[in-house]
Amino acid sequence: MQADPRVAKLIGGISSSHVPAIGGAIAGKRQGDPYWKPFFDGFVAVRAWLEQQRPDAAIVVYNDHGLNFFLDKMPTFAVGAAPWYVSADEGWGIPTIPPVPGDQLLSWAIIDGVVEDEFDIVTCQEMLIDHAVSVPLQLLWPDGPPPVRIVPISVNTVQHPLPSAARCLKFGQSIGRAVREYAADLRVVVISTGGLSHQLEGERAGFINPEFDALCLNALVNEPAKLTAYSSRELVALAGSQGVEILNWIVGRGILGGAAREVLRNYHVPISNTASAVQVLEAA
Ligand code: DHB
Ligand code: FE
Repeated sequence: MQADPRVAKLIGGISSSHVPAIGGAIAGKRQGDPYWKPFFDGFVAVRAWLEQQRPDAAIVVYNDHGLNFFLDKMPTFAVGAAPWYVSADEGWGIPTIPPVPGDQLLSWAIIDGVVEDEFDIVTCQEMLIDHAVSVPLQLLWPDGPPPVRIVPISVNTVQHPLPSAARCLKFGQSIGRAVREYAADLRVVVISTGGLSHQLEGERAGFINPEFDALCLNALVNEPAKLTAYSSRELVALAGSQGVEILNWIVGRGILGGAAREVLRNYHVPISNTASAVQVLEAA
């Protein structure tokens, strides 16, 4: 069946960890080192899929780590509507990337749609992007600027109270509806970043939970509602205080909507303090 050329098409989703050290490995050209190879090798097939799919735009669902939003002003959900997104130094010692162009029309189509669905989001006509956006973009397009315009969507996974997994899934579904109704001949990919299990601080620093990660990766394919049974506090307990970044993946899965087909996944422990994963789902 031919796709309807009059409305945007959601081609699929790529979900990936966003550990800053990956940016350091890219800058230092250490992709072939024994520590890094099993991680970077997981992206070869992802890039091949992207080359086939040729997206025009990417919705990037991530959490800001204190660069654009600090604890004093923390939106639960924020949608970028800027012409450009500038990456800035967060103190990790990794290079910034050149400004990434935004798709402002797609941003406003999403903002109109989710507000109509009663999601009271923050709109950002200026928005700095941190490693949670820059590192995945470098992994997906290592040879130059990404050939897509982006719509960054930030989810609070940092300062409690966090949105519930159920709310995140519904938010994603609302974004997905808005994209599917957006009258433009546009191929849209969803990039969700963060996770999987990790905890950077406190007594459980270094905590990783491969069993729960596997449960999440399996559920995300066609049973995302399974994950909505967990409260955000339960997610912290099971995945670690930063593993709760899985909420970004749940939003991303909601955007894809109905049935999906898993194209590939790679899971590798550890990268820095994190159980790293990449998963590609195609909208069925
Ligand atoms: C690490 C992981 C993250 O998700 C992050 O935002 C920062 C650091 C880490 O494992 O080092
Ligand atoms: Fe993070």
